Amino acid sequence: MKAAGLERMPLCLPRRTSRLLLREFTPADFDAVYAYSSDPRVTRYLFFGPRDHDGTAEYLDGLIQSQQEMPRTRFELAVEETATGVLIGACDLSLIERHVADLGYMLSPMHWGKGYATEIALALLDAGFCELRAERIISTVDVNNKASIRVLEKIGMRWEAVFRKHRRAKNRWWDCHLYVLPRPVWEASRGIHSSV
Ligand SMILES: CC(C)(COP(=O)(O)OP(=O)(O)OC[C@H]1O[C@@H](n2cnc3c(N)ncnc32)[C@H](O)[C@@H]1OP(=O)(O)O)[C@@H](O)C(=O)NCCC(=O)NCCS
Repeated sequence: MKAAGLERMPLCLPRRTSRLLLREFTPADFDAVYAYSSDPRVTRYLFFGPRDHDGTAEYLDGLIQSQQEMPRTRFELAVEETATGVLIGACDLSLIERHVADLGYMLSPMHWGKGYATEIALALLDAGFCELRAERIISTVDVNNKASIRVLEKIGMRWEAVFRKHRRAKNRWWDCHLYVLPRPVWEASRGIHSSV
């Protein structure tokens, strides 16, 4: 028997943006994943890492297995630069409640500052609202992560709250901002007229 409310359209993959390809991870991606997820600059504001060799293998196995989940609620995707075919990072869109999706991204430092995270995040908003049928897309970000905060603001997400001691990880408490984009605000920004 199918659980009520879980008949969800899957995400169309792979997805192209103007300069990037968002696709499923494969075991062949190990070296590239290890390169960025073992880099302390990348994981500075992330609850995990830096990951060692075994930690990366476990993480990659876990997310490849998650591709088979039914219904699938977690889409952690490889980000490939179209011009070079190089895997430059990861992004994710996860349904944390029935109509609420959480987005995130991380890129190898040599690709920071090119507008890639903004391009990825805009594509994830479209995917979350159009295909996952989210009503709200959220993101939580460490209060000191200025680059990510800037990305969330550039894509139109709105600051909603600050969570003091949101989480304890890596031997410290994390203060995080909550950013939110409600569907009607996103629709208005796209010139879509809501039927509600
Ligand atoms: C956060 C991250 C994905 C941003 O990637 P990116 O491709 O460089 O982002 P973009 O180029 O699209 O935009 C970055 C914006 O932040 C700004 N920025 C960067 N560092 C900044 C800083 N220290 N203070 C203020 N703004 C900063 C950039 O100038 C740019 O804004 P602009 O277009 O107005 O100039 C990248 O830094 C990263 O992978 N960090 C490690 C992982 C991580 O923290 N992920 C987010 C978890 S919530």
